[in-house]
Amino acid sequence: MDQLEILARAAITRSYSPYSGFAVAAAVRDESGNIHTGVNVENASYGLTQCAERTAICSAVAAGARAIESIVIYTPTQTPCTPCGACRQVIKEFAENVSIHCVCDSDERLELGLEELLPHAFELTGNKA
Ligand code: THU
Repeated sequence: MDQLEILARAAITRSYSPYSGFAVAAAVRDESGNIHTGVNVENASYGLTQCAERTAICSAVAAGARAIESIVIYTPTQTPCTPCGACRQVIKEFAENVSIHCVCDSDERLELGLEELLPHAFELTGNKA
């Protein structure tokens, strides 16, 4: 297990998920080699819930990072959990060439590239209004 995965697994106890009961933790390595972790943070209004991946990425950016090279997403489940659609777009903002590792409590794991998770992603190109 590499350091990123160790830290993602350790962060799971900090998930705030009283409404869904579905805990998620993430760890990202930035362009300087620094690691930032995040957990899902739910809210009584449900829609304001923040996913673990976005928490980790926002934390990295707030610390000065501008590129994410690797992400580990950990769920205490028997099958790995891939990032939701919103998180895929947020990952793309800071991570053109990123490897996304989804790990869980069984030996099953996924290693994915952003191109396969978010083909034809939105970009601010072409004519603007
Ligand atoms: N969740 C994440 O943290 N990341 C994802 O990519 C998918 C969903 C969280 C949001 C919510 O707290 C819980 O999982 C159930 O949807």
